[in-house]
Amino acid sequence: MSSTLDKVRAREWFYAYKLPDGSTAPTYHGFDIQPIHDTRWSMVRRCLDDRLGRDRRAFSALDLASHQGWFAINMARAGFGRVLGIDARDTHVEDSRLIASVYDLEGLDFRQGDIHALSVEDTGTFDVVLMMGLLYHLENPIGALRTCRALCKDLCLIETQVVPGLTGHVDYGSYQYVKPLMGSFGIIDETDETHGPEASITGVCLVPSLDALTWILRKVGFSRVDVLEPPEDAYEQLRYHKRVMVAAQV
Ligand SMILES: C[S@@+](CC[C@H](N)C(=O)[O-])C[C@H]1O[C@@H](n2cnc3c(N)ncnc32)[C@H](O)[C@@H]1O
Repeated sequence: MSSTLDKVRAREWFYAYKLPDGSTAPTYHGFDIQPIHDTRWSMVRRCLDDRLGRDRRAFSALDLASHQGWFAINMARAGFGRVLGIDARDTHVEDSRLIASVYDLEGLDFRQGDIHALSVEDTGTFDVVLMMGLLYHLENPIGALRTCRALCKDLCLIETQVVPGLTGHVDYGSYQYVKPLMGSFGIIDETDETHGPEASITGVCLVPSLDALTWILRKVGFSRVDVLEPPEDAYEQLRYHKRVMVAAQV
C-alpha cells in the first residue's frame, strides 16, 4: 500500500482525495476548487438516496467523462455493485486506476472512450448514468444526450454549465410560418485549450441554455426531467444557476 500511496503523492490531482493515512492527495489547481466537487457529489448522493434508496448493490452505474475517477469512486463507495468510468484521456484512466487501487473497491473499472463513439453494443446499459462537467465541452451535445439515453436504464444525472437563453419566435422561411424557440446554444472556443486535462478534445463547444437542455432531454426519450435544487452552501456556480444538475428519468 505504501508504494501505491507514494505513486499517488508523486502525481497531482484535480480532486483533493482523502488518503487512508489521513493525508490529502496533492492537487494541481492554484485555488481551491474542491467545493464544486463536494457540492456536486452531495447533490448526486441526495438524488440517489431519494430515487433508489440506500441499498444499491444490485445497481450498475456509468460515469461519463470520469476524469481522475472522483464520481465513479464515490459511486462505488456509495454501494453500487458495478461502476464503469469512461474518459477520452488515457492519462485520466491510468490515474483513476491508481487512485481506485488505494480504496480497494470491488466492481469498479475504468476505460478510455469518446462519448461520441460509445454505443450500447460496446458498453451495455446501466441503471444510473452520470455525465458531470462534460456537456459544455462537446461539439455534439445532442448526440451525447442521445447516448446518455441509450445507455441508461433508469436515471441519468447531468451536470453542466449553461448559457443565458434566448426566447421568442422566428419567422421560419416566411412571416406566415412562425416557430417558437425551444432553447438556445452558446458557442465557446476551447481550441487553444485542448491540451488541458479538463477541456474539450476538439475545442469546439456548444453550451445549452437550461430550456434547451430540458427540452432536448425529453426529445431524446427521457420521460421526466427535474432540475435539482442546490444545497444552501452550494459552490457559487450552482447556487447562482451558472451550472445546473438535472435528473432525467427513463
Ligand atoms: C471538466 S472535466 C469533468 C470531469 C468530471 N466528470 C467532473 O465533473 O469532475 C471534463 C472531462 O471530460 C473529458 N472529456 C472531454 N471530451 C470528452 C469526450 N468527447 N468523451 C469523453 N470524455 C471527454 C475530459 O478528459 C475531462 O476529464
